[in-house]
Amino acid sequence: MTVRPSAPAFPEGFLWGASTAAHQIEGNNTASDWWHFEHSGSGFVSEPSGDAVDSFHRWPEDMDLLVGAGFTDYRFSIEWARIEPAPGEFSAAMIEHYRAMVQGALRRGLRPLVTLHHFTAPLWFTARGGWTAEGATELFVRYLDRIAPILDAGVEHICTINEPNMVAIMASLRKQGAGTDAFTTGGLPTPDLETGEALIRAHHAARQLLRAKHPGAKIGWSLSLQDVQAEPGAEAAAAEYARPRQTVFVEAAAGDDWIGVQTYTRIVVGEDDGAPVARPVPDDAQRTITGWEYYPPALGGAVREAARVLPDTPVIVTENGIATSDDDERIEYTAGALQSLKSAIDDGIRVDGYFHWTLLDNYEWGHYGPTFGLIAVDRQTFVRTPKPSLAWLGAVSRGADEIVAA
Ligand code: BGC
Repeated sequence: MTVRPSAPAFPEGFLWGASTAAHQIEGNNTASDWWHFEHSGSGFVSEPSGDAVDSFHRWPEDMDLLVGAGFTDYRFSIEWARIEPAPGEFSAAMIEHYRAMVQGALRRGLRPLVTLHHFTAPLWFTARGGWTAEGATELFVRYLDRIAPILDAGVEHICTINEPNMVAIMASLRKQGAGTDAFTTGGLPTPDLETGEALIRAHHAARQLLRAKHPGAKIGWSLSLQDVQAEPGAEAAAAEYARPRQTVFVEAAAGDDWIGVQTYTRIVVGEDDGAPVARPVPDDAQRTITGWEYYPPALGGAVREAARVLPDTPVIVTENGIATSDDDERIEYTAGALQSLKSAIDDGIRVDGYFHWTLLDNYEWGHYGPTFGLIAVDRQTFVRTPKPSLAWLGAVSRGADEIVAA
């Protein structure tokens, strides 16, 4: 018998779910920019997404596993490249596909939180210059205007754009021709300012349209918010460091119905010669498969920071998790993260939900190596094998404060 770590009880009505993203699980997203990118010989990508884990066909089974474990919510994204594979050509079949997913979730007792853009765009959109090209916002809004049948099927929470700050960082890395190892050394590259501004404009335009068309829906966006910690005396430098990478995007959520916080680790910032510097993760620190420092309480820190900037906006944790092949470590990490989240709630911060990243081991933007999933997937047969963490977190979501597993 193994006694699993306990996790604290959460408020009534709390959203408990897992998150996924279409490109990472569906497979064969051939009209997308990422599919093209995966086959263009870029140094970012070591293997293509291929079939991913075939959730395009197997979403009913995936939802059954989630609800069967006790969860009440599912965050998934819809794929613009499938819905509008060529400019102005909208696929009724794909709109119906995602409408059926929303209905399928609700029928099972899962409330869908739907993301409208999770890193991927139609290839044609990116080829014409992406977010910074003239008319980009109008094209995004035109797509949103056409997906009413999906959202009207019963979506209460809508996330316009996932991690705009990371999209802007990726834009800047691509301009410099740098690789993803930029993420493992500690700290984050500076986002591309123009891309960031364009995404903020697109979010505000999207919010306006969605509010007019779907007055009952709660609209927000989800940000990559790591726990930025200042070395003693470097508080101003840490704030300066966080500003372009995180804070401006939090401020842009003013007026939203909620803000999505997505946290994996911390970043320690010091000051050298008057400038902020992210310290490298120490050599002896415990790291995850992605190379990030293992630091569960980062979640509470990031949530507190979002609430400091926007005290009146409810937080939803839209992603939090760990890439590990040791599921006991996943449970231990998640229990620690939830403790830090509960302590923020106890201090008066309004947090409306927690979505674990992620439901299934999946395509981690360039390779299948990092396993973040609550469920393992055989990529030849697509057989799903739940890990103990799925049942553990499901039980936590039902209010159990300690789980004993065989
Ligand atoms: C993204 C996910 C990604 C996860 C782990 C977030 O940046 O939204 O798509 O897989 O972090 O890297």
